[in-house]
Parts: sequence; C-alpha cells; structure tokens
Amino acid sequence: MSDGNSRWIVLKFGGTSVSSVANWKNIVSVIKQRKAEGFSVCMVHSALSGISDKLEQIIAQAPEKETGNLVQEVKDRHYDLGRDLDLPVDELLSDRFDEFEHIVKGIELIGEASYRVQARLLAMGELMATKLGAAYVQKELGEGTWVDSRDCIKTIAPKNTSERSLILSAISETDRDPAVQKQVEEAGPVVVTQGFIGSDAEGKTVVLGRGGSDVSAAYFAAKIGAERLEIWTDVPGLFSANPQNVPSARLLNHLSYEEAQEIATNGAEVLHPRSIMPARKHQIPIHVRCTQRPELSGTVISDEASADEALVKTIAMRKDVVLISMDSLGMWQAVGFLADAANVFKRYGLSIDLVSTSESNVTVSLDPGLNTHFYDVREPFIEELSQLCKVNVIESVSAVSLLGRRIRTILHQLGGAFEVFEEHKVYLVSQAANDLNFTFVVENDQADKLVRQLHEHVITQSGNQQSFGLTWPELMGEQEEDVRDQSVWWKEKQQQLLDIVEEEGPSYVYDTQTLEKYAGLIQEIEAVDRTLYAIKANANPEVMRTFHSLGFGFECVSIGEVHRVIELFPDIDRKDILFTPNFAPKSEYEEALELEVNLTLDNIYPLQQWPEVFRGQELFLRIDPGHGHGHHKHVKTGGVHSKFGIPRFEIEEVAELVEELNLTIKGLHAHIGSGIKDPLSWKRTAIILHEVAEQLGGVDILDLGGGFGIRENDTQAHLDIKQVNESLNEFKEAEPQYELWVEPGRFLVAVAGVLLTRVTQLKGKGQVKYVGVDTGMNSFIRPALYGARHTIVNLSRLEEPNSQSVNIVGPICESGDKLGIDRLFPQCKEGDVILVANTGAYGQVMSSDYNLRAPAKDVVI
Ligand code: LLP
Repeated sequence: MSDGNSRWIVLKFGGTSVSSVANWKNIVSVIKQRKAEGFSVCMVHSALSGISDKLEQIIAQAPEKETGNLVQEVKDRHYDLGRDLDLPVDELLSDRFDEFEHIVKGIELIGEASYRVQARLLAMGELMATKLGAAYVQKELGEGTWVDSRDCIKTIAPKNTSERSLILSAISETDRDPAVQKQVEEAGPVVVTQGFIGSDAEGKTVVLGRGGSDVSAAYFAAKIGAERLEIWTDVPGLFSANPQNVPSARLLNHLSYEEAQEIATNGAEVLHPRSIMPARKHQIPIHVRCTQRPELSGTVISDEASADEALVKTIAMRKDVVLISMDSLGMWQAVGFLADAANVFKRYGLSIDLVSTSESNVTVSLDPGLNTHFYDVREPFIEELSQLCKVNVIESVSAVSLLGRRIRTILHQLGGAFEVFEEHKVYLVSQAANDLNFTFVVENDQADKLVRQLHEHVITQSGNQQSFGLTWPELMGEQEEDVRDQSVWWKEKQQQLLDIVEEEGPSYVYDTQTLEKYAGLIQEIEAVDRTLYAIKANANPEVMRTFHSLGFGFECVSIGEVHRVIELFPDIDRKDILFTPNFAPKSEYEEALELEVNLTLDNIYPLQQWPEVFRGQELFLRIDPGHGHGHHKHVKTGGVHSKFGIPRFEIEEVAELVEELNLTIKGLHAHIGSGIKDPLSWKRTAIILHEVAEQLGGVDILDLGGGFGIRENDTQAHLDIKQVNESLNEFKEAEPQYELWVEPGRFLVAVAGVLLTRVTQLKGKGQVKYVGVDTGMNSFIRPALYGARHTIVNLSRLEEPNSQSVNIVGPICESGDKLGIDRLFPQCKEGDVILVANTGAYGQVMSSDYNLRAPAKDVVI
C-alpha cells in the first residue's frame, strides 16, 4: 500500500503493446524505470490486439449461432500469450472464460444483443487481458495489483444523449476524484487496470467507444492527479503527415494541447481526440511513445514553451468525407433557414464538421467517423432536408487540413502547392475560427498527392528544425517498400547493373523479361483485339523488337517514328502502323498515305484546306471526348484546353466532308491523357466513341488510346488491370460490332527501365543535404517537368539503413535539376551508384544535350 502522498504516473499500453512477450519485457522495464524515478504507476491496459474486432464479430454473428470458432480463437489468443509469459492461464482466466461463454450463449439464445449485453461482452477483452498483464507484472516485479476500472470510472448521463451512446460510447467526469485516488493509492504502488470500460450510475458495465483506452487513461490521470500521462503505442509519436503516404513526414517533438486536439480530431489515429481535454484541464503532460522502441522520446503534449511563431505542424487527411450541399435562391432573405436546416441534421443525429457559405449555397461536411449511421438514415434525412432547399450529396471526397498555429499568416507560402488545384475541383474550403486549421475538400484520388505537395512546401521547406524530429524510417531504421521487395527486378540484377555503370557511365538499362511481363499484363485485357505500342515512350530498337516479336503493332506520332518502324521491320504490314500526328505539316500526311500506313486526322482543317490529299482515302479520326485525365495537367489530352482531337460539336461538319470527299472512316480514336489509374476510363472512352460512330456510320474500329498508369514510387497505387478488363468486356458484350484497339506506351516499358548514375559530390547546407550525381535533367526531365516522384535508391548500399533525408541533384546549371527531393537515404560516398526506378518510359526519349552534357546511354539486358 502507498503512503497516500505518492506521485502518480499513468501508463497506457495499447493492444499491440500488450500482445507479445518482447513488448512485455519493455513494459516491465518502463514500469521499473518509473518506479526508480519515484513514481507510483497506474497501468491502463487494452485488450489484446484484434480481440475487440473479434468480439464485435461475435455480436454480429451470434444471432446465427456461428460463434463457435470465434469464441475459441479469442480464448486461444489468451492461452498463447499466457503460455509465452509462463503464466497459469487456467487458474487466472477460467472464471472469465466462463463468463465470456455465458454471455455469448445468452445472445445466441435470445437472437440479439441489447446495448447492455454488447457492453458486457466488449468489456471481456480488457477484463481477460488485464488478468494476464497483472499476473505478469506481479511475477516480474513482485508487486502489481489488479483493479477493476468499473469501480473507478463512473460514467455520467448528459441530457440529450442517446441510450446507445450512454452504454457504448460513455463519458466520465474529468475532475479530480478523491475516492478514486484513495482506491488507487490503496492498491498501489503498482496498479494494473482496464482501459475502455467503466460503469454507470446503476453500477452496470458500459464502454467508452473504440479507442477508448486512451480516454480511460486520461480519466485516471485526471481523477488521481497524475503528474504525467504516457500513451504507449506501436508508433513512435505523432507525425507531420501520415508516414505511409509521406515517407519524409517528421516526428512532432512537441505540441500544445490545442494543436494535439486539432491533429487528433482531424484524422491522426495515434491518439483518441477525447483523451486530450482531461489532461489539459489539469495541465498533465501527455507523452506519446513507442513500446517496441522505448528509447525514443516520442511526442510531448503540454502547454510548456509553445512558442508563438506561426507554424503548420501537420498535414492531415480524412478520406471518404460526405458533403451536403444545400442550394436555395435567396436563402439569406429567408429568416431562420440555417436554423431549420441544422434542426434536420440534429433530428437525424448527424454532426456537422466544416461549413462554407455563399449567397445561395451552404455546404457542410460530415465526418464519417462521427456519423457512422449516416447511410442508415440517408434517405429520410435527404427527403426532409429537401423540403427546405435543393440538396446535393457529394461523396468520394477527402478533407485535407493544414494544422498548426496562426495559419492565416502563412497562407502566402503555400503558393506552389496549390498547383494541384488548377485542374481539380476544390469542393469546400474552410478556415477554423481558432486559426489552427485550414481545410480543403478535394476528390479522394487527389488527396494523397495534395498532402505530399503541401507537406513538401509547408513542412519540408519550412527550415524549422526545432519542432520537427526525425522521419519514420530514420527512427525505425526502415527501408522503403521497393527496397524491401526482393522481387523487384533491379534488385535481383544488382551486380550486373553495377558492372554496367562501371563500363558505360550514366545509363538507362532495360530488362527484357520485365518488358515481356508487362506485355503479358496488357494481353490480359481480353476485349482488346489489337495492341499498338506507342513508341514515343521509348523508341529503343531492341525494345521495339521485343514488342514486334510479341505481335504488337506500333503507334507513331511523327513521320520520323513511322520511318523508325519501317526501317527496323521492313516487312511489317503497313496497317500495323497507326500514324497519329497533331498539327503536323501537310507533307507528313501525304507521305503517310504514300507509305499506306493507317492515318489519323485530329482536326477538320486538313480536310477543309487540303481536300485533294484525302479524297477517296480510308482514315481514322481522333475525337476529343470532352474531358482529359492523367498524372499532370501537361499530359491531359482531352477537353477545350487541350490541342488534340476533333470536338464533338464538329462531327456533323465532318460527316458532310466525309460524304463530299468520299472518305471511309475506318476507325475512331481517342487518347485522353497519360498516367491514368482510373480503371473505368477506357470504357468511358469506348462509350463516347460508340456514340460518335453511330453519328458517322460505317466505323469498324475503336482505338481507346494509351494512358495506362504505373506505380512510379511505393506510395502510389497500381492500375487495376482486372477492372479495366471487366469494364471493357461489358462494353464488348453490349457492342460486339467493333474491333477494340489500345496503344499503351508507359505501361509496357516504364517499370522495365532504370536510370543509373554515380555520386559525384556531397554537400550540406544546414539541414538540407545534397547528393550530387553525374547526370540530371539532361537525362531525365520528368521530376523537373511534372514533379514526378520516382523511387530512388543507392544501389551500392541497398542493405544499409536510411539515416538522412537528401536531395538528389544533377550537374546541370538550373535549380530545377533535381532527380528527387527529400529522399530517405543511407550515408553516401563518391562513386556510389544511384538508381532511379521506373524510368523506362519518357526517360531517354525526352533527354537532351543541354549544357552540352551527353545524356545517359541505353543498354538492354
Ligand atoms: N497514344 C497517343 C495518341 C498519345 O499521345 C500517347 C502519349 C500514347 C498513346 C501513349 O500514352 P501512354 O500509354 O504512354 O500514357 N511525357 C509524358 C507522357 C506524354 C504522353 C504523350 N502521349 C510523361 O513523361 O509522363
């Protein structure tokens, strides 16, 4: 028993933390250390990882009586851990297991679980796990008392709270509570208790909602007047962005309560948003730390020394937000509109997050996490709201937020990051009244890219070093996924590649096996009858031979490309070549017709101005479907802002010319852009071309273009070829009369190519470090031109851990001569070989002799 004057510390250990022996060793040593520092310890303990999910599954499946396996799995997890910890599991848990099975039987019998019964079942996860935890602590330290947190965390029932919330998402007072303090003191100096659970005024079990263990820990800290609250979890703290999306995201060394609240509320899953207020109220510092790596100092949340300069600390993102846009002319004249509308939200229990208003529109967002029942009430809710105004529900959008202090004063710094908005709609912008939050709502598939761009502009380039710590890979000594993935071809051929640079200097190297692999993937699209390789992506003769031998045709954009194909394959059927020029001189069209290759016109002008060239010919027409798509605005080739294709409003005029000049329109063509990851894009194009074909009549072939995207670095998604296949099959089934063609470039060659270059010099300008290499934008212009981010590794040191963040720069006299910015790298030495991955497409073909520096050579292996 403690003496009543002890200094307490609350340590919360999450599910992953309490699920392995290795972690338990760390837990015990942390407790020992805190004891040595003079603290009494209140350990708040979660259920074993994955158990709460299983209990929820049991609730869902109990009415069907299909819980047998799940119940056994839950028990086995505790048996396994108990055995690993050398504990007598039966002795410790047999009562608990009985109670657990008893509750499950009850639900099966009645056929459903009331909120009360759900709470009792969910609480079992913590009740079982803490029995093991307490016994282990007792065994290792000779002290450690199990306390039932239902005796300490008494919950309250605020007005207007639903029964469900009172039982399954309950809250407690945050005042100091002498009774709880006494209880804990008496059980001390080492107490092991449960997170997540409490009891209500009737003494019945309730739970605090998912992630509620953090909240329990904060309640305990507040009630017993702890000096510190430590949240031990499986990540090393809070970061300036999600490290999975932004590998260069930095650890946040220190946050004010206000900032932490904002970050937790806006999507960081490390800390429950409700856990901050109780600590803040009593000025109890919160330390977020990593159980696997107890030596790291983590993130400290307190009000100490929150300097006053403006600073963005985090770029946060919440996916799948729902926007409700309400339109009504003269809304503001109608007194009480907002109140009436808000009332409808209230009646359906929907809590509004962001709001933006104009003369005739109010748009609000619903955070999916706080409105999990939205889809249940959607229809009646919209119907009721529609009585007040015109309602539009916008889905598949994400909220991207800049979080920090005095954000308004730094908006001018954001300039470059907003480039991404130029072509993409921003659905809502909102600036929080507290000046801690500036949020944009954008399409889901733009959100990751926007987060990265904002992070780079606002955090990486901020130069502020005090607030930001190391990156995740620096902290954890991890490698990027591409480097860990043993099956990446350039990893398997590492030595061969190193030898090539030794001999040839800077080189592009293409791997024939990988070319064939990607050709095979395109051939999986069954609905496609003909594939033409777009040689603009890579016109290397060996590469072209590979595709020729696989039976592919060729798509060419200049008469030079047509000649290249004919020179290499003199016997090729000329109709295996499709020439698709854009604003080319008259002579190229004449030559193409003479060479008898397929020719595409993408403008009405040649027909109007040079009718004699085309009279009686068979042609393809390139149509502008009216929209473009692609990885960057420079490569979107549809819509009025693009110079390509015949607009649909000219089709009637075209039809007249077709008749007048006695033309045969053999095929229609569209290519809307490059680097597309939306698998339905080609089907959409097919549908539009089919509509135009109906207008013109007599069309046999629909060429759906190229544009198939690849993954340029390990934060990007793959294009789902299966879905491309399925969607085109659907089209083909509906319209079997057409031959379907595609003309991929990038997809076939990008991954098969790497650029190899050697380190020349190293430089450090304070925190910004440069690794100089012997070729740059003269060989590979995509990073400078499109901001493309390709995986880059030090091929000479693949096994070494990353320990720094660097810019990889070439020898060209422009500041834009960067192959990669803010990359995690091992320490480098002069002569090391640097590999830029996925550069087989639009690499060598776009290189130049700029600065009279010869670009990298081509090597095919
Ligand atoms: N067909 C036509 C008519 C094209 O204009 C293009 C590419 C393709 C097919 C092949 O597109 P792909 O499958 O490779 O996406 N330099 C830029 C890409 C420009 C694409 C130009 N047209 C880049 O590095 O991203």
